[in-house]
Amino acid sequence: MNVITLASRKGGAGKSTLTAQLAAQAQAAGKRVTVIDADPQGSLSLWHSLRKDGLPKLVTPERGLDRALAFAMIEGTDYVFIDTAPTMWVVVQEAIRAATMVLIPARPGFFDLAAVRETVKVARERDRPYAVVINAAPVKRDDKEANLVAHSRAYFEGLQIPVWSGQISQRAGFQSTLAAGASAAEIGPATAAGMEIARLWSAVERSIEAINNARFEPGGAANEGGVMGAGRAA
Ligand SMILES: Nc1ncnc2c1ncn2[C@@H]1O[C@H](COP(=O)(O)OP(=O)(O)OP(=O)(O)O)[C@@H](O)[C@H]1O
Ligand SMILES: [Mg+2]
Repeated sequence: MNVITLASRKGGAGKSTLTAQLAAQAQAAGKRVTVIDADPQGSLSLWHSLRKDGLPKLVTPERGLDRALAFAMIEGTDYVFIDTAPTMWVVVQEAIRAATMVLIPARPGFFDLAAVRETVKVARERDRPYAVVINAAPVKRDDKEANLVAHSRAYFEGLQIPVWSGQISQRAGFQSTLAAGASAAEIGPATAAGMEIARLWSAVERSIEAINNARFEPGGAANEGGVMGAGRAA
């Protein structure tokens, strides 16, 4: 079972949006998925309450995150996605500790970039692989990313923080599909939003595969070879 924790100290970075969109993407690809809403704001629970089939399964960690994860494991879950609050509360730290990989959404822009470092610090302390996902970026023009995005990327690279080579753009489709209790993968897999999420999911899946393979290689460094270069090293 793989655990993907969406974390960022910065409010509004896109944790809940990406948790729901990625979980629905994995579900649509035939995976057994559970989502854990570890944020008392309940954004993910609200989305889930609008879903007709009740899938992916949603749980809250009221009786402990480890217990929720143990149940998911028994049920044969392939992927657990954990949405967290924009804090460094114990439950967020536990969600990072339990992660196969931590995804840190960040909007391009100085305050968001600075906030990422706090989350990265926790992932590094817990020795968990992590990568930044640039979210709500200006739409590319002629396949060229905006200067703001290029600067953000350079900032992370300068700090040796792995960052996904793609971007999730600012698109109404990410919000409107969730408001309808659905997702980009379900409503518009061929739309720009649908294709961006599919690309992100594919990168995450391949990174997790690389992390898992490295884990079973004696002496293999788990932070090498990941598609996102998911890093552990300081
Ligand atoms: N790529 C995007 N395109 C358009 N809107 C987006 C995108 N990502 C996030 N948003 C919008 O930005 C707002 C904040 O996003 P979201 O709730 O996912 O952030 P969060 O990190 O979970 O916030 P919090 O820290 O409060 O939990 C929401 O209104 C969401 O619809
Ligand atoms: Mg949220």
